[in-house]
Amino acid sequence: MYLTRLLYCSERNAEVDLDIEQLLYSARDYNGRSNITGALWFDGTYFVQVLEGGRQVVSETYHRIAKDPRHHSIEIVSCEMVDARLFHQWRMAYFADTADNRSLVLKYSGQDKLIPSNMSSASLLHVLAEGNLLGD
Ligand SMILES: Cc1cc2nc3c(=O)[nH]c(=O)nc-3n(C[C@H](O)[C@H](O)[C@H](O)COP(=O)(O)O)c2cc1C
Repeated sequence: MYLTRLLYCSERNAEVDLDIEQLLYSARDYNGRSNITGALWFDGTYFVQVLEGGRQVVSETYHRIAKDPRHHSIEIVSCEMVDARLFHQWRMAYFADTADNRSLVLKYSGQDKLIPSNMSSASLLHVLAEGNLLGD
């Protein structure tokens, strides 16, 4: 059961209701039971999410998430075996588009708006790992 980190990005489906608090509540419940940790960025347009855990459970969770109608255009940015988790304290940390986080996006990309297709997987991970958290 190799430790795996999967990073994906997607876009919100504006035609489907989204209650981010409810989404986080059920994601954290499931992740807690599956030993998944990670982080979710959401700015109203884009999602960027990191899932860490055993390879099988990360794969299962990713495929379930990919079918969720609340987002579309989902793309895997990276998926690798890792020696350690980056987000081991969080069942799903949450980052939003705050002024502090925008300044961090500017540090790691060409502009202060996070555009996943303009950023490397390393830069996206830096933003999530160093960002200002809004929950556990
Ligand atoms: C952007 C986004 C992130 C999500 N993150 C997780 C997650 O980390 N863990 C999880 O179990 N479900 C997550 N979900 C919810 C799943 O897609 C799914 O709704 C939930 O696991 C319930 O699945 P079920 O309806 O098949 O039981 C996420 C959904 C979206 C749209």
